[in-house]
Amino acid sequence: MGKDVIVACDFPSAKEVFAFLDKFTEKKPFVKIGMELYYAEGPSIVREIKKRGHKIFLDLKLHDIPNTVKKTMSVLSGLDVDICNLHAAGTTKMMEAAIEGLTREDGSRPLLIAVTQLTSTDQESMEKDLLIKEPIDKVVMHYALCAKNAGLDGVVCSPLEAGKVHEVCGKDFLTVTPGVRFAEGDAGDQKRIMTPSQAKKIGSDYIVVGRPITGADDPVAAYNRCINEFVD
Ligand code: C5P
Repeated sequence: MGKDVIVACDFPSAKEVFAFLDKFTEKKPFVKIGMELYYAEGPSIVREIKKRGHKIFLDLKLHDIPNTVKKTMSVLSGLDVDICNLHAAGTTKMMEAAIEGLTREDGSRPLLIAVTQLTSTDQESMEKDLLIKEPIDKVVMHYALCAKNAGLDGVVCSPLEAGKVHEVCGKDFLTVTPGVRFAEGDAGDQKRIMTPSQAKKIGSDYIVVGRPITGADDPVAAYNRCINEFVD
């Protein structure tokens, strides 16, 4: 898969997400389904959005014992999503089990990417709550390398980390980056942000964009602008 814009469909119900997706009559955007929508509507929401012709990143961030993650990944693989994810903090064994669970009988599987440290975690909370004393960027790169060695396809990271992840893990290791805003846009609660064209320059493979598209007066125009800046 090449560079693409993934739209974070953070809506509380199927009704709202379909009203939003109905606006896209030409190109069907790559859609991210997060916990809010998935837990509200269950697996049927994945099947229905897939049936409408969208690619899907199912962002459920699994983190449990290897056997549980393996079996759950096997269920998600059956939903025919394109990308799913887990927390690298679950350890290499858990990530390897996840790959096993995801892989179908014919050898195919959705892409699997890892969350390293959440962007809401800072150095202070990592040291205080998790007792991890190393610098956070070193921790992020270490988790990314563990994910690569476990056979994963990439990581979710800040666009500011994407260049370094490629240096450490190779250019084919995918970087999927939220925290994207238009130059004149409102940052909201995102702190370390980049524009779609800056994310392109730094080498992000996919940008994840939510409110700048879902909250725009003209969501289709905002989406097309992201595509123009990031892909074309
Ligand atoms: O609305 P906004 O563009 O900020 O949406 C970004 C999306 O990416 C949200 O669904 C958010 O949960 C997700 N995300 C993030 N930062 C991470 C991981 C995921 O913003 N580190």
